[in-house]
Amino acid sequence: MSGVRVTLKFATSLDARIALADGTSQWITSSESRAKAHELRAAHDAVLVGIGTVLADDPLLTARTVPLPKTQPVRIVADSSGRTPIGSRLVQSVSSGRVVVATNGQPQDILERSGVEIWRCGNGIRMDVHALLRRAAAEGIGSILLEGGGTLAASFIRAGVVDEIAWFVAPILIGGDGLPALGGLGLTELSAATRWKPVATERIGDDVLNTYVRS
Ligand SMILES: NC(=O)c1ccc[n+]([C@@H]2O[C@H](COP(=O)([O-])OP(=O)(O)OC[C@H]3O[C@@H](n4cnc5c(N)ncnc54)[C@H](OP(=O)(O)O)[C@@H]3O)[C@@H](O)[C@H]2O)c1
Repeated sequence: MSGVRVTLKFATSLDARIALADGTSQWITSSESRAKAHELRAAHDAVLVGIGTVLADDPLLTARTVPLPKTQPVRIVADSSGRTPIGSRLVQSVSSGRVVVATNGQPQDILERSGVEIWRCGNGIRMDVHALLRRAAAEGIGSILLEGGGTLAASFIRAGVVDEIAWFVAPILIGGDGLPALGGLGLTELSAATRWKPVATERIGDDVLNTYVRS
């Protein structure tokens, strides 16, 4: 155990889709839910997304609360081979808060020169989840808000390192051709599925925020 608390955030349709088939995902949930999601960011030491999300959405990942938090969460991209574009909003905003690209160990000179921190997490094909959490702990990060997408979220669930799920559900239906919230887990028996204990339900505008902890 790394000692880092990981909260997995989903913002989905009623049928647990996070985007249309073409990747369009802005905006599924309401402005009230998005404001709450910014509060969640502010309440964590770091925010984490996969490179798929950076390439699709070009997110800033800052906590834009009113008032702004005293310190911004560290913004981390799981990006094994350093594909984060130099022109992305993340890299272009390093002056407003730390940006980390967590790689599989390859040096990333160009990104490093642009002010991004490179964390070398393992030396496999993909950035290693446990190595990332160890490095985060060593950096004094006690909590991470994992914002997806589904591929990275599935790796964290498979690794058994998610402590809590914050699931925003909007009252719309996207259908089976939309992108699922969670990638494949490779389960062959239901008994092997992680069970989650519901601990809170909050109505936010027309959306609902359900919070679960690992049972
Ligand atoms: N509605 C929402 O709340 C929400 C939130 C987030 C995203 N989205 C949507 O989700 C889509 C992106 O999701 P996605 O699943 O394609 O991408 P993703 O999960 O954001 O990123 C996946 C990529 O992360 C990298 N990665 C590094 N280490 C990994 C590891 N240990 N395990 C798994 N992946 C690792 C891999 O690329 P490398 O091998 O190159 O490192 C992988 O392809 C977009 O359409 C976005 O709009 C929606």
